[in-house]
Amino acid sequence: MDNRPIGIFDSGLGGLTAVNALKSLLPTENFVYVGDTARVPYGGKDVDTLRLYSDQIITFLQNEHNVKLIIVACGTISTNVMDYLQAKFSVPIIDVVQPGIAACLQFCERNNKHKVGVIATTATVKSGFFQRALEKNLDLQILACPLFVPIIEAGLANTIISAKIAEEYLYNWAKSAENPDLYNLIDVLIFGCTHYPLLNEQIQRILPNVHLIDMAQSALLATNQYLSVHKMYSEKKLPSKFYVSGDVDKFNQQASKITGLEILAEKLHL
Ligand code: DGL
Repeated sequence: MDNRPIGIFDSGLGGLTAVNALKSLLPTENFVYVGDTARVPYGGKDVDTLRLYSDQIITFLQNEHNVKLIIVACGTISTNVMDYLQAKFSVPIIDVVQPGIAACLQFCERNNKHKVGVIATTATVKSGFFQRALEKNLDLQILACPLFVPIIEAGLANTIISAKIAEEYLYNWAKSAENPDLYNLIDVLIFGCTHYPLLNEQIQRILPNVHLIDMAQSALLATNQYLSVHKMYSEKKLPSKFYVSGDVDKFNQQASKITGLEILAEKLHL
C-alpha cells in the first residue's frame, strides 16, 4: 500500500487524456498534474530544451509532492529524453509511447493487420522512435501535425477549424502516399501525441474504419501493472492537485470540460 500521489505531466492539456484514463482505471489513486502551459507547444523544441523542462517538472513533483511514480503524459518527452530522465531520477517513470507501441503490435498481430499510421509532433517524428520500433515488421506511415496542439490549447478542438485542419493533414497524407486512397492507407492509427485524442471524433469521422490507439490508455494499463506488482496501490483517496505555468483561469475552464472534474489549478513558477 502506498497513498502517495502519482505525478502526471505534459506541456498543457494533452496529459489530461491520462487523467481521464486514470479516473476510469485507477479511481482510488491520488495524482498531481503539471501542465507547462506557459511553454506549450513542446513539439517544436530541441532535445536540450525538452531535457531542461522535464527535469524541472520532475524535480518539482519529486521534491514538493513526494510522488511514488511519474507518468510522462507527453509523446514528445517520451520519444526524446526518456533515457536521460531514467538515468537521472530514482522515482519510477512510465512513458506513454512504449505502452502505445505495445498495444499497436498486439492489435496488428491479433487482427492480422500491418498498415500502421502514426501522427505526432515534429520533434517526435524527428526522434525516429516510432520508426525504429515499428518499421521492421510493419508498413509504417508517420506524419507530423504541428497545428493540432496550438488549436487544442486555443480551445478550438471539435470546431469547424479543427475539422478543416484535420482533413487537410489527412487528405494530403494520403495524396503523398504511393497508393493515394485514404481509406486504404492504414489499418491502425497511433495518436503519437497525447493532445490528439482530444480530436478523436473528428479524426475517426475522416478515417471511419481505422482502429485508433490512445497512448494514455495504454500507459495507464502499464501503471496499473506496475502498482500491482510492487503492491503500491493507494487505499485512501485524497483531493487531486493541478499546477500550470501559464494562465490558470483558462486552464481551469478547459481542463474541467475535458475531465469533468472541478479544477482549481495553482500557478507554478518554473
Ligand atoms: N502532448 C505532448 C505530446 O504528446 C506535447 C505536444 C506539444 O506540446 O507540442 O507530444
